[in-house]
Amino acid sequence: MDRDFEEILLGQDFGREEIKVLLAADGPRMKRLLDRAREVKFRYLDNYVHLRGLIEYGNVCEKNCLYCGLRSGNGRVARYCLSDEEVLDCARLAQELGYGSVALQSGERSDPEFIARIAHLVREIKKIDGGSLGVTLSLGEQSEETYRRWFEAGAHRYLLRIESSSEELYYKIHPRNAMHSFQRRVECLEILKRTGYQTGTGVMVGLPFQTLDHLADDLLFFKRMDVAMVGIGPYIPHPDTPLYRFRDQIPSAAERLDMTLKMIAVLRLMMPEINMVAATANQTVDPQGREKAIAAGANVIMPNLTPGEYRESYFIYPDKACVKDQPDQCRSCLDIRLAAIGHRILYNAWGDSLAFTKKAR
Ligand code: 5AD
Ligand code: SF4
Ligand code: FES
Repeated sequence: MDRDFEEILLGQDFGREEIKVLLAADGPRMKRLLDRAREVKFRYLDNYVHLRGLIEYGNVCEKNCLYCGLRSGNGRVARYCLSDEEVLDCARLAQELGYGSVALQSGERSDPEFIARIAHLVREIKKIDGGSLGVTLSLGEQSEETYRRWFEAGAHRYLLRIESSSEELYYKIHPRNAMHSFQRRVECLEILKRTGYQTGTGVMVGLPFQTLDHLADDLLFFKRMDVAMVGIGPYIPHPDTPLYRFRDQIPSAAERLDMTLKMIAVLRLMMPEINMVAATANQTVDPQGREKAIAAGANVIMPNLTPGEYRESYFIYPDKACVKDQPDQCRSCLDIRLAAIGHRILYNAWGDSLAFTKKAR
């Protein structure tokens, strides 16, 4: 049918211009792109989806990112931090539900007490059922020593989104000061990789001031950094943040979701063996958003395990999905939703990135 498009789609090693053509696809071209990405995923990774039980450890944050509801400048959040017992209860629940891995996420803190408690918690989580749970951390920028300490405690995956790989856009969505250094963030990704973590990064899609060139460069950045995991999700304007005033200048929710799906699909073609998460933010903009992301090439879902009473305080962006659901409801819900689109959950496994384990062999 569409020979020019088909030629790009079936090619390898996309350049920036080719990526832009793919990201601009709509109608039948977009459908063809997503179908192709799913085919490629099935070929390399089968139809498995891996789960990470998400534990939102605390919403205290030292940073002030201009898009995020947890920013330190937002006085309208009730700040909390889970107790050790609460975290371990979540982890035991993850193990009982067969999730195979947990992801510990929180606002950014670097005080010695926090660092020590995380190390302790990782060690305790690794004691559950003889170390059967994989542990992903998503705790922001830290010193090399801290990253090493947590790795030695037993964490083996780390997520640190670059948010935007364009330095210029990075400083439009973060305050321009020493606490929010683009260079430092890139450096942290390098440190995480050399510490031995399966390292993940990612970006938001549909940010104010973001162009197709920025998005194409984000994909090239992931490839260049040779990361093992990527999380791409739509930006959702939060009323208590500075970026909210640009909400009229961004694409519609449907457009942000579509662009997210195309980003996932193109990246699946570029990096067929990485783990890619179907971000919860997808479900916020569309009730079927996570399934659509899985169908477009993602292979990881992070069901929320945070105790109900804290969920509404982990208010990164409005209308987060599953806020009122119980963890066991999510399990059966996901089974059904994923079976409906021809996927199955791989229970009781860590679900490591094939891109990473192949290299480690
Ligand atoms: N919309 C979508 N995603 C957001 N994040 C933070 N704020 C928002 C928002 N308003 C994402 C960031 C961060 C992750 C924890 O949540 O990418 O890395
Ligand atoms: Fe803090 Fe992360 Fe939110 Fe930035 S995105 S304010 S570092 S929780
Ligand atoms: Fe939480 Fe469906 S995944 S209720």
